[in-house]
Amino acid sequence: MPRVLSCIQPTGSVHLGNYLGALINWVSGQHEGDVYHGIVDLHALTITESPGILGKQTLELAAMLFAVGLDPDVATVFVQSHIHEHTELAWIMECTVSFGELSRMTQFKEKSAKRETDFVSAGLFTYPALQAADILLYDAQEVPVGDDQRQHIEITRDIAVRFNHRFGDTFVLPKAVHPKAGARVMDLQDPTSKMSKSSVTDNGLIYLLDDNATIEKKFKRAVTDSDGVVSYDRESKPGIANLLDILSACTGTTAEQLADKYSQYGPLKNDAGQAVIALVEPIRTRFHELMADPGELSRLLIIGNDRAREVAASTLSRAHKAIGLLPRI
Ligand code: TYM
Repeated sequence: MPRVLSCIQPTGSVHLGNYLGALINWVSGQHEGDVYHGIVDLHALTITESPGILGKQTLELAAMLFAVGLDPDVATVFVQSHIHEHTELAWIMECTVSFGELSRMTQFKEKSAKRETDFVSAGLFTYPALQAADILLYDAQEVPVGDDQRQHIEITRDIAVRFNHRFGDTFVLPKAVHPKAGARVMDLQDPTSKMSKSSVTDNGLIYLLDDNATIEKKFKRAVTDSDGVVSYDRESKPGIANLLDILSACTGTTAEQLADKYSQYGPLKNDAGQAVIALVEPIRTRFHELMADPGELSRLLIIGNDRAREVAASTLSRAHKAIGLLPRI
């Protein structure tokens, strides 16, 4: 059984990009691997500014992870800040990655540019080192993520290779696993940008907690193009390609096959919206049931944290030994 790890930030509500790009694979893979999934609240600190929000969002995200279908009996769901090994290994990772490598990270360049005159934290810059710690602590062989995380997994491999070369074989080299369809869900209003919580407006984002009427409206208003021909071409027809990709991820039929079935945009928008509603409606119901019992959610997280900590502690101590730090007595 492969060891699998992936994480998600508790920043705002879970959207269709998170679901089709990552969570769907987490759920389908939970019986085929030894799986660990983290709610990475410390990563969210790189841009969170208001007090008192993160804890609530962490609990809501836990409910959402169980609502989409993670089974607490087989999947280990944990909270990053409850396992101090993450930040301890992150420092070692920071000392193993170079300033130049971190400077080349697209996500840092994009996010810091977006913040313009706002505060840009050093944490935003060193973010990939903490993410490398998240992955390497669990000896993860597979990391199921959306396409936007490709560079983060590559730098994690580079860090692991460098550490192993310096100090001897310590870390397992992870590989990214992407879904066939849905690896890059685009914003419905701006189909050349990925669907993202940091978008300026919510109109192009489908949240799993949106009601059916809102989902229908957002699909109806999805930006397409003016040539009126349904064909699958991400370059020249990004809006239509995105709708076909979403429908493909929901139904399992390829985007090219779906394109042959439609001659007009209206029915494609409608069917994509209905397919998403069919998928998210039961999730929404389960989410609200789970949120009604926060005590039970906390209990499940304690079980997950305990299981995760055992693995994390043993890997960190292996890394300390490899470096040759003086053992604690
Ligand atoms: P985050 O919280 O932004 O997103 C969680 C997961 O959702 C995927 N995703 C998408 N997939 C397809 N289309 C989209 N529009 C889309 N938007 C988001 C992401 O690829 C991700 O898989 N840095 C990570 C969190 C992280 C992590 C880790 C991931 C921290 N440590 C260790 C894996 C392993 C992030 O910000 O994901």
